[in-house]
Amino acid sequence: MRSVYLDNGATSYPKAPGVGEAMSDFITKIGCNIARGGYQQAYDAAGRVLEVREKLNKLVNGPGPRNVVFTGGATAALNLLLKGLLRPGDKVLTSPMEHNAVLRPLEQLKKEGVAVEYLPCTQRGELILKGLADKLTPDVRAVVLCHGSNVSGTLFPIEQVGPLCRERGIFFLVDAAQTLGAIPVDMAAMCIDGLAFPGHKGLLGPQGIGGAVVTDALAAELDPLLSGGTGSLSESLEMPPFLPDRFEAGTLNLPGIFGLGAALDYLEQEGEALRLREHKLAGHLWARLMELEEDGIRVLGADDPARRTGVVSIDFLKGDNGEMAFRLEQEYGIQTRCGLHCAPMAHRTLGTFPQGAVRFSVGPFTTFEEIDYVQGAVYELLLE
Ligand code: ALA
Repeated sequence: MRSVYLDNGATSYPKAPGVGEAMSDFITKIGCNIARGGYQQAYDAAGRVLEVREKLNKLVNGPGPRNVVFTGGATAALNLLLKGLLRPGDKVLTSPMEHNAVLRPLEQLKKEGVAVEYLPCTQRGELILKGLADKLTPDVRAVVLCHGSNVSGTLFPIEQVGPLCRERGIFFLVDAAQTLGAIPVDMAAMCIDGLAFPGHKGLLGPQGIGGAVVTDALAAELDPLLSGGTGSLSESLEMPPFLPDRFEAGTLNLPGIFGLGAALDYLEQEGEALRLREHKLAGHLWARLMELEEDGIRVLGADDPARRTGVVSIDFLKGDNGEMAFRLEQEYGIQTRCGLHCAPMAHRTLGTFPQGAVRFSVGPFTTFEEIDYVQGAVYELLLE
């Protein structure tokens, strides 16, 4: 039976050409640490790490390559941004469409005296902008929002929220887990102070590497979550005050950074064409599933493909979603993610709690034919 991978929201597959080779070459042909040993190979490897920071900074129009802090992924980056910034007595605004990578750190912070308020969203998972400005009061320290929901695929208008925050001196933190690489992000234009990203989704790199891009203003207010060796200022018992060392204790995931570097090379080489292709595929998937709404499914999220990512989730109105996802895999080879997608409040907002939904998510290597095949499979299930 054929196999159709539609779980790119969880991780991209396949990875960009060259990622595996770059990781393997690092392990077998380079292998050294950086910022520790004083020999040419270590300097060369450090040079490549800096190049990868430069590529990421350019991609997001960030404040500078040294403002790119590597972490184990978007979750670690969000923990750094939230727990590093928020103190007892602070207030933070967020949305119910967030992933547990935001909700759970905030829940921990609540117990330490941070006030958390959820901004209202529609049943399609859209942020309600009306009234937002009135909520941005002087006691609000930060607003944290996802760029795109991992459940509904709806994009948030972060380009409108950022300037409102900046005008008021409120830090704007964005979880770009579902968008970076696939949807443009411009930190300067969108007034983003802290951007969390994974390397293994839209960037088409390996798992275990991601990061946070921080403005100098935010970095000055952030406490490091980890402390330890950085290979710099070793005489001091304090973490170095400068970026990125302040937030990068311990040996970096160098195979991951080399793999991510190869993925970024590929994205640069393919340019806009790859992004447009994914956007068209996402629109096609959404349109083909929308055709089945009258046959017994509800398609979640925004009703305009321009405001959507490559994620399309459906709720089978008559069948059990878990069983449908199982049958899609067993009978058609279609791989999806079913359930609550680590985003329980998003499902409550969308009206799919506790049954969850079946999520299809395209990547740039999905084909139009695969999407048509998926539509046929869902239709057959609905006919029964
Ligand atoms: N957060 C990832 C997802 O939505 C893993 O599947």
